Amino acid sequence: MNPNRKPLVAANWKMHKTLAEAISLVKSVQEETGPCADREVVIAPPFTALEGVGGILKQPGYSLAAQNCHWEEKGAFTGEISPIMLKDLGCQYVIVGHSERRQLFGEKDETVRLKAGAVFRAGMAPIICVGEVLDEREQGKTFEIVASQLEGALNGLSPAQAERLVIAYEPVWAIGTGRTATPGQAQEVHAFIRDKLASIFNKGVEKKIRILYGGSVKPSNIDELMAEPDIDGALVGGASLEVGSFKRLVQFKS
Ligand code: PGA
Repeated sequence: MNPNRKPLVAANWKMHKTLAEAISLVKSVQEETGPCADREVVIAPPFTALEGVGGILKQPGYSLAAQNCHWEEKGAFTGEISPIMLKDLGCQYVIVGHSERRQLFGEKDETVRLKAGAVFRAGMAPIICVGEVLDEREQGKTFEIVASQLEGALNGLSPAQAERLVIAYEPVWAIGTGRTATPGQAQEVHAFIRDKLASIFNKGVEKKIRILYGGSVKPSNIDELMAEPDIDGALVGGASLEVGSFKRLVQFKS
C-alpha cells in the first residue's frame, strides 16, 4: 500500500447469488463495516443483481461494478450488455479481461482493449485483469506475458484515462485454487507492472494507477499482501461471498 493511492477491495461474485441473496449480503456487509473513508469497496454482482445492489449501496466508500460488457454502445448483439446500460444502472467500474473470460470465452487482448476504451467513453473506469498461467510461470515467462497483455489492452488510452484505470494482477494458477502468490511474488510483478505503465503512458502517471492483486485472497493473507508497497488492493472471488470473510477483507490492516 502507498498512502498516495486509495486502497480498493473489489468483490467479484462471478456467477453466484440470486437477487435476494445479493441484496442480503450487501446489507449485512454494510451494516457490519460501516462507512469507509480511507478505502474503497467495489462490488461486482452478476448483471441480474446490479440494479438491486446499486439501489442499496448507501455507505460512503462503496461502489458498483459489472463483471463484463460489450464494446459497442448498442446494436444487434444478442445477449450482450453495453457500457452505457451499465452506467445507467449506477456502475462506476467494469471488470475487463478476467482470466475466466479469456480462458473460457476466448477473450483476446484486442477485445480487452476495445472494452476498456468503451468503458471510459461511457464514463466509468475499467478494472483490467492480467496474469500468467502456471506453465508460463514455470517457464519464467511471467513478465513477458504480463507485458504483452498490458501493451495489447492499453494501446490507445490517454494518460488522463490511465489515471482512472485499475489493473488487477491475477496469476491464473492462484484463482480459486487456494494457492495464493506470496506477498513477495505478487510485489515483484506489481512493481514490474508499474514500471511498464510508466513506459506506456507519461512518466508519473504510473504512480496514480491502482494495481490490485487477485487469486485466493482471504482474511488470513490480505494484511500481508496489503503491506507490500505496490499492492493497492485486492480483487476477491470466493472469500467475498460470505459476510464474515468479506467484512474482514474490507477491514484489512496494513
Ligand atoms: P478467488 O478469485 O479469490 O476465488 O481466487 C479471484 C478472481 O477470480 O478475481
